[in-house]
Amino acid sequence: MQGYNVAVVGATGVVGTEMIKVLEETKFPVAKLLPLASERSAGSRIEYNGENVKVELLTEESFKGIHIALFSAGSSVSEKYAPIAAASGAVVIDNTSFFRMDPNVPLVVPEVNAHDVRKHQGIIANPNCSTAQMVLPLLPIHEHFKIKRVVVSTYQATSGAGKEAMDEMLNQTISIVNGNGPTKPKKFTKQIAFNVIPHIDSFLENGFTKEEMKMTNETKKIFGDDSIEVVANCVRVPAFIGHSEALNIETEKPFDIEKVRELIAGVPNVRVMDDVATNTYPTPADCVETNDTLVGRIRRDFSVPNGIALFCVSNNLRKGAAFNAVQIAFELVNQELI
Ligand code: A2P
Repeated sequence: MQGYNVAVVGATGVVGTEMIKVLEETKFPVAKLLPLASERSAGSRIEYNGENVKVELLTEESFKGIHIALFSAGSSVSEKYAPIAAASGAVVIDNTSFFRMDPNVPLVVPEVNAHDVRKHQGIIANPNCSTAQMVLPLLPIHEHFKIKRVVVSTYQATSGAGKEAMDEMLNQTISIVNGNGPTKPKKFTKQIAFNVIPHIDSFLENGFTKEEMKMTNETKKIFGDDSIEVVANCVRVPAFIGHSEALNIETEKPFDIEKVRELIAGVPNVRVMDDVATNTYPTPADCVETNDTLVGRIRRDFSVPNGIALFCVSNNLRKGAAFNAVQIAFELVNQELI
């Protein structure tokens, strides 16, 4: 396998840092790594494969000779620079929401729709973190029993909002523990320490948030099936890493719940942790060091004729971002698209 020149835009952020770690761990064939950031951290250094690599300033000229550009520096940066990178001949894998619903941009979770990678015209979108993990247990359920409707409630970690958001939670917690009361919220709308906030991204006219509608719309696009209805309730919780989701899934066809458990366990990069007799079920603390999506509490939802309830946890910086992006990069290589 030859090597590829890989740029990481937003290399100093929480997702960018994880992208570089995942490239290293998965031994992606990198010929040259180019970490890019704003003037705030250009000139600083990051570790990659035991080497000290200089972070360069993102400019319109950054992408000459780059084969793959992983973007995670916010939507406005992707809006401006992803088309420039694509025009320079790089394939962009974009972690922001900017291009996700663009009909000319494939939205890919490789376990579900790796075949869509080949439709790319220079830009491929990585889904929202909550969607990426949810579609894994949904995949065999939809294939075998056809999903009618999913009701999902999320419990999302602060790292999904970036490094400053994590710092806000930590500093607020310390301030409260020291008896000084909560510090003023900046990245969040309300106090996050010792609290939960039913508000992620901005509110829309229908009363849902953008984050909630991403789960609805992106699921349909990834499965290529508009008939799957998803209604989401997205909540921020004071965890650093790891999004949790409680799912209620209604299917058209009847099923055997043991068969459902077996099918979910067969999905690549999914690990079933499900034995209530021994208090075995996933929590965010279990997903910090893994790319796997963890699934437990699989049981029959008795409130509808064909219903499944389950709990699903995944590292939002990995399957929800960096790992999925690097999986897409591997698809480009394995499908000989690059
Ligand atoms: P920088 O370190 O220079 O601010 P997070 O999501 O953890 O807050 O990280 C955001 C990432 O996006 C950081 O690497 C940040 O770089 C980068 N970034 C933000 N704005 C820009 C920009 N205008 N140009 C290039 N990189 C940017």
